[in-house]
Amino acid sequence: LPSHYTLPSGDKIPSIALGVWQAGRNEVGNAVKTALKAGYRHIDGAWIYRNEVEVGKALKDSGVPREDIWITSKLWNFFHAPEDIEPALDDSLTKLGTDYLDMYLIHWPLARKDGQPYDKALTENPYPTWQKLEEMVEKGKVRNIGVSNFNIRRQAKPFCKKKRFIHWNLCRLENLTANPLKIRPAVNQVEINYWVPQPELLQWAKEHDLLLQAYSPLGGNGKVGDTLAVPEIKEIAKELGMTPAQVVISWHIQRGTVVLPKSVTPSRVVENFQVQALPPPLFEKLEKAAISHEPYPRFNPSKNWGLDFDIFE
Ligand code: A2P
Repeated sequence: LPSHYTLPSGDKIPSIALGVWQAGRNEVGNAVKTALKAGYRHIDGAWIYRNEVEVGKALKDSGVPREDIWITSKLWNFFHAPEDIEPALDDSLTKLGTDYLDMYLIHWPLARKDGQPYDKALTENPYPTWQKLEEMVEKGKVRNIGVSNFNIRRQAKPFCKKKRFIHWNLCRLENLTANPLKIRPAVNQVEINYWVPQPELLQWAKEHDLLLQAYSPLGGNGKVGDTLAVPEIKEIAKELGMTPAQVVISWHIQRGTVVLPKSVTPSRVVENFQVQALPPPLFEKLEKAAISHEPYPRFNPSKNWGLDFDIFE
């Protein structure tokens, strides 16, 4: 399996990252240090995870040179207005204790200042936000830029029979890329797992030279146990002498995405980095199982954010 993918900038991004969403401040430092010892060189964080100080301290304490580590952070919804972007980025840089990020993503296709109604124009077409991010690359504060939680305008596939699943397929990415961009989005980080395998988005991304990053790769909160108990996954694990989690993480990389497993348990952090290619028939067996079952509704914060629309539609 590839240990890295090459981005349009020429930078090589490691294919496995430690995800630190929902990693508590008291545990994230240890997880980062364990990961670096186990060979990880990619940490996927965000301003809103509220643990950047602890992540930064662990990176420093590890003794691993900064240039050997890939650090991603994300621009929160409150800061999409062009004048708010550089201060938001500087805050993440200060907290992480570094003077540049390897990757900075627009966290959600939603421009909404704290406590205010969302900015419809900037949400529908975040080109002004993007232009400022391009400027941050030119200034050297960021090496690569991308998006997160952007889905594509596509018709539902036949297996999405129920109307509530059609929201997978709609989004604003094409609005953004229709502008005369100086730098195209290098990645799109979205939920991808056994329950939400997103084969259409994956196909579209391959056709458009856009790397996907899979968050909640094991199924996310509440569904990890279900994933690891899927009969096909258990059978493949047994056949290859791997754990079910290793089978799933390997499957993600074999599909051509970056994979971001989160764990704060040292043994699992180590386990999740030990991956290997699945023989083609076993890969196909898992792929077929993933794309042919009834999908679960994915993680969707629209209601919690009081939106009058579904952010995935
Ligand atoms: P913990 O952090 O307590 O170790 P996802 O990456 O899909 O969001 O899943 C994250 C969840 O899966 C976390 O609750 C994490 O628990 C758990 N997890 C991570 N790796 C493994 C593993 N190898 N086996 C079982 N559970 C895991």
